[in-house]
Amino acid sequence: MVNLTAGRFAEILDSFGDISLAVIGDYFLDKYLIIDPDLAEPSVETGLDAHQVVAKRISPGAAGTVVANLHALGVGLIKAIGVTGCDGEGFELRMGLQQWGADIIGLMEDPGSFTPTYTKPMLKHSDGTEQEINRIDIRNRRPLSKRTEDILIKRIRACVDEVDGIIIADQVAEPDLGVISPRVREVICQLGAKRPATPLLVDSRANIGQFANVIIKPNASEGARAAGQDVGGEISTDQAAEITRRLAERTGRTVYLTLGHNGIAVRDGDEFTHLPGYQVAGPIDIVGAGDSTTAGIVPALCAGASAADAGLFGNLAASITIQQIGTTGTAAPEQMKARFAQYQARYNKH
Ligand SMILES: Nc1ncnc2c1ncn2[C@@H]1O[C@H](COP(=O)(O)OP(=O)(O)OP(=O)(O)O)[C@@H](O)[C@H]1O
Ligand SMILES: [Mg+2]
Repeated sequence: MVNLTAGRFAEILDSFGDISLAVIGDYFLDKYLIIDPDLAEPSVETGLDAHQVVAKRISPGAAGTVVANLHALGVGLIKAIGVTGCDGEGFELRMGLQQWGADIIGLMEDPGSFTPTYTKPMLKHSDGTEQEINRIDIRNRRPLSKRTEDILIKRIRACVDEVDGIIIADQVAEPDLGVISPRVREVICQLGAKRPATPLLVDSRANIGQFANVIIKPNASEGARAAGQDVGGEISTDQAAEITRRLAERTGRTVYLTLGHNGIAVRDGDEFTHLPGYQVAGPIDIVGAGDSTTAGIVPALCAGASAADAGLFGNLAASITIQQIGTTGTAAPEQMKARFAQYQARYNKH
């Protein structure tokens, strides 16, 4: 199943500091406004209660979650490439990314765009608990301008020579409304064809079936859809083998099919490996599990791990982050080493 020794696992992990990666795609801002209901004041203009904010928490999401995870894993240099609006949310997003040490030079401002933002008003109760009330979403409803798209494409082409690996976080489902527009997608596929040895992994919520010459990492339903397979419910190992075979036929590269609590199926040429999920005890929060998986896989590939071994880094990173409730969570190298030992004890000792 997995032939990694603890020593080799640690060696790969310890070399993450020498690795540079670009994270290209949709950067969102999650903004939590903590409201004290006891301070509510009626508005003179409307007579309605005005919520009073006593604290703020901001956190870059989507591609930003991948950056957070790479940072926690100790990746040396992370280049954020994408587009924000020329707005306050863009400023907050940049502050958040910089706190994680990201290089944000490639994050450009487009006057015609918004910084996609989920604003989450949280009522703070006297017992200290928080309750989320109606969220306010800011999203782009028009495509990027041609000019912005042109510059973005130049940035993407230029970054290939500056990094060891590339992650594409294509989060926006509507065609044309995110950073990975059909034209940008074409450029990414061309880069993949030109650089078959560069780890270039794509995660795409709605369009994974449209990528070629790149490593893809769909979840079960995204993968089944892209492979034209109609599978209701859970996917068996045989079905995962068939889905990844079909997808790899199209992409010509490694396919990671994530299977929730069932772990990850890895197809690399004729080799197929199923890495069982690490079953954790207690409550879990699976938001961002896919991003943690990506953040484990790509630096491991850059460090020379085999496709299947890199999948294990993703599997273990996600098993750690899902145990962090109410936040997308991250995994640190020491936690990874400890989880590796637990995983080995459970699955590899006979
Ligand atoms: N309940 C679980 N127990 C253990 N590991 C899990 C569990 N759920 C998810 N994982 C880990 O997280 C990985 C990604 O999960 P999943 O297949 O649900 O991705 P996803 O649907 O893309 O997630 P996201 O909602 O973040 O986009 C899995 O491959 C597995 O390693
Ligand atoms: Mg996902």
